[in-house]
Amino acid sequence: MQTSVLNNGGSANHSPPTDRYDSAMNSTTPIRHISDTAHWVAVYRAQESERADAVFRDPYASKLAGKRGAQIAAAMPFARRHSWSYTARTWLVDQVIERSVREGTDMVINLAAGLDSRPYRMQLPTALRWIEIDLPDMLTYKQEVLAAERPVCTLDRVPLDVRDAAARRALFKQLGVQARGALVVTEGLIIYFDSDDAAELARDLAAPATFRRWVTDLTSPALLQMLQNAIGGPLVEAGSPLKFAPPEGPEFFAPYGWKAVETRSLLHTAAKLKRLSLGMRLLSLLPDPGGRKPNKPWGGVCVLDNCGATRSP
Ligand SMILES: C[S@@+](CC[C@H](N)C(=O)[O-])C[C@H]1O[C@@H](n2cnc3c(N)ncnc32)[C@H](O)[C@@H]1O
Repeated sequence: MQTSVLNNGGSANHSPPTDRYDSAMNSTTPIRHISDTAHWVAVYRAQESERADAVFRDPYASKLAGKRGAQIAAAMPFARRHSWSYTARTWLVDQVIERSVREGTDMVINLAAGLDSRPYRMQLPTALRWIEIDLPDMLTYKQEVLAAERPVCTLDRVPLDVRDAAARRALFKQLGVQARGALVVTEGLIIYFDSDDAAELARDLAAPATFRRWVTDLTSPALLQMLQNAIGGPLVEAGSPLKFAPPEGPEFFAPYGWKAVETRSLLHTAAKLKRLSLGMRLLSLLPDPGGRKPNKPWGGVCVLDNCGATRSP
């Protein structure tokens, strides 16, 4: 029921958020900074929310996406045609959160939370503790936009550069002591990591035994290549290339303490949710490779259980 910004020594720049966002509006490149991607994906949540048959409703997405989000989305026609993937991802992660909370999760840690508004829009126990972690400017902007709104559970925002390994380990240790059973969420984050960084993050997340479950999106190498060709250019220009797509799929995380217990395809989920064009519907009739066939384009959501950190990256 409360929102607080903790200072954990995040290392990103501390320019006033409005300055950065105003100057970004005047930029000719659609994406200027990795945090712009949060505005961009919020547009697709807003669009889904406006449908009469919406599978989730995010009443804050449009305001949070802002003009910046609309501008980026307008410049990315490929992503617009595939907005079903963002709908499916959000819906799947909502399901995992609901189920985990029913099973006793008392803390949700959303790493690179961006403009996600689940602590405001979902039905959650008031006693649930929700931690949002992102770069300082992103959290300040979000705090300003949502200042008049009340989260349904206890919400803490932690400004932190998650690439700062020492700072994140210290935070994970602190949260690990406070949680009885935590669910970690990463959506739209690890695709920007290289393999070594993803492995190191996985290992750090597995270190606290109370971080029981992790839900993350994942991309196959074949889909990564398609995405790099279709939408990768502006991300490269912004210094945030799309990189991570392990050939072994979710089993990539096993040596670092995470056992894949569920994988769900975005395409097959979008088919079930009736969000696909005819052409994509035909593709969805093919078997789901579960992210384990590197040469098949596959994007999905993986649920991983913590079985203890075992190997250094
Ligand atoms: C594609 S957005 C996804 C946001 C949100 N998870 C969602 O699905 O809507 C990527 C997010 O990662 C955050 N991010 C990227 N690099 C980060 C870093 N090193 N530390 C903290 N947050 C980071 C960005 O600020 C942005 O909010």
